Amino acid sequence: MGTIGTMPAVRLAPSILTADFGRLADEVKAAEAGGADLLHLDVMDGRFVPVITFGRTLVETLRKVTTLPFDLHLMVVEPERHVEAFADIVDTINVHIEVSPHVNRTIDTIRKAGRRAGVCLNPGTPLSAIEETLPDVDQVMVMTINPGWGGQQMIREQLDKVRRVRASLDAIGSGADIMIDGGVKRENAAECAAAGASILVCGSSVFNDRSEPADNLAALRAALGGS
Ligand code: DX5
Ligand code: ZN
Repeated sequence: MGTIGTMPAVRLAPSILTADFGRLADEVKAAEAGGADLLHLDVMDGRFVPVITFGRTLVETLRKVTTLPFDLHLMVVEPERHVEAFADIVDTINVHIEVSPHVNRTIDTIRKAGRRAGVCLNPGTPLSAIEETLPDVDQVMVMTINPGWGGQQMIREQLDKVRRVRASLDAIGSGADIMIDGGVKRENAAECAAAGASILVCGSSVFNDRSEPADNLAALRAALGGS
């Protein structure tokens, strides 16, 4: 997608991880009203990552307050065991390659359920780990932090991996999305887009930045050149 010299349209996916859970429905509605394209939902199990967040009950509750597409980020061991529990209420299911020895089967299960399938790479995981999987995925998520918490600083070296993912996808004629997750801010958003990302997860830069979610989203959008 995109042409040399023009900035491809980039979608913004606020993550609720650091939103105020006491007024979560309002936070999500504010992000939607502010022009969010997707809602990113971080499910953590306390095993793949140290923290436990939430499961289906919360996602089901949010499904009733917004029409935004749901992008589910499964930071859990044995993610294939949880695909069915979410498949009817989310649009995309992302699983980590580090805990998916049979990733093609998991992707197949996600797609047979009618959902988009994404594969995620931790910063320490080489691109070669998903090389054989690239033709089968709808998106690749490059983690630009070590997962577990919002509000961390981006590991900028990972943008080189993003460029290499873009080149690998182009080489096989895939139009899969590339998502960057971790430390996206108005200061680095344009650089992320230039590296080849088509979707940016933005957690603290939407829910804990200078202003309200709508203004923070507008600032991110402006940093992307209004794309
Ligand atoms: C962290 C999560 C991220 C997190 C990003 O493990 O996967 O989605 O919410 O938060 P920020 O944008 O604050 O880095
Ligand atoms: Zn995430």
